[in-house]
Amino acid sequence: MAILKIYKYGEEILTQKTKRINFNLMEKKLPKIIDDMTQTCLMMEGVGLAAPQVGLDISLVIVMLPQKEEGKYKRYILINPEITLKKGKVLSKEGCLSFPGLGVEIERATEVKVKYLDERGLPVELTAKGFLAIILQHEIDHLNGKTFIDNLPKVAKDKALKEIEQLSKEW
Ligand code: CO
Repeated sequence: MAILKIYKYGEEILTQKTKRINFNLMEKKLPKIIDDMTQTCLMMEGVGLAAPQVGLDISLVIVMLPQKEEGKYKRYILINPEITLKKGKVLSKEGCLSFPGLGVEIERATEVKVKYLDERGLPVELTAKGFLAIILQHEIDHLNGKTFIDNLPKVAKDKALKEIEQLSKEW
């Protein structure tokens, strides 16, 4: 396993829509990518990581959902995920490993339905609520070349960009 470099705001890969994974073609390569992303996510204390954040132009997300018991996680591996349904609205305070130090409050759906392939290439349809629903929306945005600040209204986004200008001096 390896810790991967996290791509930060300003890197072009974070603004590009990722390519869908052809499972049969990538099947042999995926386990190592998934292991490395999992290790990287845990090491960086993230709850989710999308492939473009580690410089990979593929549609893959890892979620590490913290469980009640300290230090335990439920892992979700999502290949080619798509949100098929959104319900409700909630204000969500979020951070992102690609924007160290930045926290913003944005609007998210309270519930989402997501279809994807699991690590065996099998189709899954997941209904998620609460924290998991938020993480999924955040990570799937990454796959579409979108980051959390793109969900802010213009004035708030400009303010976040100014903050990033300061923060990024330490990156
Ligand atoms: Co993020």
